[in-house]
Amino acid sequence: MIGKKMENAINDQINEEMYSSYLYLSMAAHFENVKLPGFANWMRVQAKEEDFHAMKFYNYLISRGGVVKLKAIAAPGSEWKTPLSAFEAAYKHEQHITSRIDKLADIADSEKDRSAANLLQWYIDEQVEEERNAENIVHKLKMVGDSKGSLFMLDKELGKRTFTPPAAGAP
Ligand code: FEO
Repeated sequence: MIGKKMENAINDQINEEMYSSYLYLSMAAHFENVKLPGFANWMRVQAKEEDFHAMKFYNYLISRGGVVKLKAIAAPGSEWKTPLSAFEAAYKHEQHITSRIDKLADIADSEKDRSAANLLQWYIDEQVEEERNAENIVHKLKMVGDSKGSLFMLDKELGKRTFTPPAAGAP
């Protein structure tokens, strides 16, 4: 049975992950509107990743006898000036999520909840990849600069991204 403090913190994080999905879905719609379908595809895949993150916490809470309490999801923005500003916002958001996961891991440690600590190690590793993915695209967009041809090529590249549920998907 999970403790109340850990349960509350995980419920808050389910909301953060659902918001992340909303944010990236909104960015996907924005990229569709500005005719960058590859960027939109990348963001749609990212939104699915966030659903996966939320559901992993959701399933975990249930498996520990906890109560899932879903909260209202805040509205994300809907427009970004440039692809670079959208990806800078995504990168900043991932840094925020990393700090949230670190706080959850601190709670697991202080509560001596080894099971939660074990689960959170998966998220700690995942956040390294999440930050790196967003930062890589920020870096590429800076290299692209004002070149429409290079932006077109990058759009093609991002259009190839597909969603693959991580192997360590359970619970
Ligand atoms: Fe769920 Fe992008 O971290």
